[in-house]
Amino acid sequence: MSIYSYLKNDHRQVQDLLKKIEALPTEQVEERDRLFNELKTQVILHSKAEEKIFYSPLQRFSLTEDEIKHAKEEHAEVEKMLERLSEPDLNGAAWSQLFKSMADALRHHIKEEETQIFEDAETQISSDRAEEMETAMISEKKAVKKRIGIDLR
Ligand SMILES: [Fe+2]
Ligand SMILES: [Fe+2]
Repeated sequence: MSIYSYLKNDHRQVQDLLKKIEALPTEQVEERDRLFNELKTQVILHSKAEEKIFYSPLQRFSLTEDEIKHAKEEHAEVEKMLERLSEPDLNGAAWSQLFKSMADALRHHIKEEETQIFEDAETQISSDRAEEMETAMISEKKAVKKRIGIDLR
């Protein structure tokens, strides 16, 4: 295993949650909120740990420096939309519209990460290092959970 398969597995789980939320009939608000909270937790944990373990070293290589800067902006943009979607005053069609924008941004980000970033990263990071990164990613996620767990519940 390596950091790439680990991140891809996380991405698949996030994509599944997006699909599940999109497939729900509009009146199932409680179930939608439950799935949305799960999605938000997963995305934030993933992004924070990913920035520290995977992005930080990549930011030091000139090949990936700009890609990582761009990817971090996308993380911030998605996080901002996830926070807004959690606010109780946003509902109905406005919620769905923002959810759609957030889902589009997230899918776009995942696609770019798995194609361009992974491809370039593989030329800069040894396979041993990529394996170590997977282990580091798992412990960093636990640490993030402890640090901000309360806010995400
Ligand atoms: Fe990712
Ligand atoms: Fe990412």
